[in-house]
Amino acid sequence: MQIVIFETPEEVANHAADWVDTLLRQKPNAVLGLATGSTPIELYAKLVARHEQDALCFAKTVTFNLDEYFQIQPDSPQSYRSFMNYHLFNKVNIQKSNTYLPTCSETQNPRQQGLNYERLIKDSGGIDLQILGIGANGHIGFNEPSSSLASRTRIKTLTQQTLKDNSRLFGEDEYQPDKAMTMGIGTITDAKYVLLMATGKNKAEAVNNMITGPLSAHCPASALQMHENAIVVLDKEAASLLSDTEYYQWADSQNRKLNEKFGYYHNA
Ligand code: PGA
Repeated sequence: MQIVIFETPEEVANHAADWVDTLLRQKPNAVLGLATGSTPIELYAKLVARHEQDALCFAKTVTFNLDEYFQIQPDSPQSYRSFMNYHLFNKVNIQKSNTYLPTCSETQNPRQQGLNYERLIKDSGGIDLQILGIGANGHIGFNEPSSSLASRTRIKTLTQQTLKDNSRLFGEDEYQPDKAMTMGIGTITDAKYVLLMATGKNKAEAVNNMITGPLSAHCPASALQMHENAIVVLDKEAASLLSDTEYYQWADSQNRKLNEKFGYYHNA
């Protein structure tokens, strides 16, 4: 794991934007894995700014989102499709037909939809860079604690904690789905690079479990310990329970020197 710690959430977003930027300039038809939630909003704002100011181009980019609520209408304001359109897709030159979410309507079979999503990802050549957040309970995507570390795209029932954490996004009289279609942990860890962002004190325990805890379905993000190219980008608060931060910061400064010499993607 490459662990990078910054003072502020803004620096976290900037660092993640650098990764996407570098990838898209090297490989314009890259396949990106994308996440929703509060954490990546700043990243998307930075990508939009780079598109407008530095000609960052999404014309050939293909994207796969981690998850989508089960049986939600795509045009519902709470759907992750709406979130992505609002924060990124409507503001850059991406072709909407190249943007995928693991949808499942009332008339579709979730098992078949999951298999279809896996097939689409494979047929696109696999995900080059997967962006991730982390839940306060250690989930990645909607892979709640106890999810198989080998899981593939499927339907998951959300925990009470996740429902509570996400209830801020729903009005009092609005129906909040309690299930989602999500890439599995096996799907996520198939990506060539994974970059997880975490900010704020309420993520500190999950971050500590992910990095220093046992590899365990109880903390799904701990699966990243097995990934060849995992980058974890934290602000100080999210890193506040880690004991080895001095080493991580020292290693990061060395990595930057190596990256300058051998190329950005050499040493993740
Ligand atoms: P958040 O969600 O960015 O809204 O905190 C992250 C997640 O649940 O994966």
